[in-house]
Amino acid sequence: MTASLDLHKIVPPLLSWYDKAARVLPWRENPQPYRVWVSEIMLQQTRVEAVKPYYERFLSALPTVETLADAPEELLLKLWEGLGYYNRVRNLQRAARVIAEQHGGQVPASFDKLLALPGFGEYTAGAVASIAFGIRVPAVDGNVLRVISRLTADRRDSKDAAVKRQVTEAVRGILPERVGDFNQSLMELGATVCLPNGAPLCAECPLNGLCAGYRQGIAAELPAKTAKRPRVIEERTVFLLCTEDRVALRRRPARGLLAGLWELPGISGTLSAEQAEEQLREWGLLESSVQPLPRAKHIFTHREWRMTAYAVRAPQPFGEFVWVTRQELLEEYMLPSAFKTYADMLKDWISVDI
Ligand code: ADE
Repeated sequence: MTASLDLHKIVPPLLSWYDKAARVLPWRENPQPYRVWVSEIMLQQTRVEAVKPYYERFLSALPTVETLADAPEELLLKLWEGLGYYNRVRNLQRAARVIAEQHGGQVPASFDKLLALPGFGEYTAGAVASIAFGIRVPAVDGNVLRVISRLTADRRDSKDAAVKRQVTEAVRGILPERVGDFNQSLMELGATVCLPNGAPLCAECPLNGLCAGYRQGIAAELPAKTAKRPRVIEERTVFLLCTEDRVALRRRPARGLLAGLWELPGISGTLSAEQAEEQLREWGLLESSVQPLPRAKHIFTHREWRMTAYAVRAPQPFGEFVWVTRQELLEEYMLPSAFKTYADMLKDWISVDI
């Protein structure tokens, strides 16, 4: 990284820009440690706009470390329903329990102690330490890596661990007193101006005069993209098994994709209507007539589900499922977003005309 010596020049213009342009966000208005921590966990892999509606609801339901530590898992998952990456909220609770038991219920004001908590990596520990406590440590996420790789015209792979370490050290070397604002200003620039996917708004950037990538006309090409691991495509057949007033759910296996979460019963592969009816006999519904539903897909990080689906009306509950009412589905059970197309049909119950 050739231009790292000059990197300190970005600090004053970036902070002035941040003072004018920072989005008003709930965790910025009132940066208490617990609130900052929850925001950072929600913001992992999720955009600010998607997080907003979840954030205040979560904090109203679970306003303190203790309430989070004591919350039933089903409530936690319900509050997280639709945000995805559900291990985040499980780790959030694990960390809350450690904080309640080992830190007297206070989020620790120490980078190392934060880093030791479940769900915390270098980025999250740095973000909470700097934003909530003003501790001078960097917080380098994907946005920051992109901004720095463009500023320094660095063509190396920013996902590479050695590159990331170097960027982190370069940022550490220029941290000002206002470290929480500074770390957020880098993220904010990445999220609102120095946009990904070849679309930076360089004309609007407060750092364009200092940016080697801009000067060389290569900002849009940075950071260099590595070949992505291809997604595994999995065909699945999903069943909306309904009685008069209930729908069948079951728990997914404790390990792997969507571990331990509720799902609509389903199996791998694309079943014809006849094969679906055969599957239903195996599950204990001897007579059935399935109604095909529209296909749907869901994209996970490393996997894509292409779903064929059938609705089935059963005279009474059968098989090893949990049969829940519409009310319970809406208020108590968390169905992952992968099933959203079909869950929406269920919530609209009557429109599934079986
Ligand atoms: N992404 C993660 N944390 C953020 C923050 N505090 N501000 C803006 N974007 C973020």
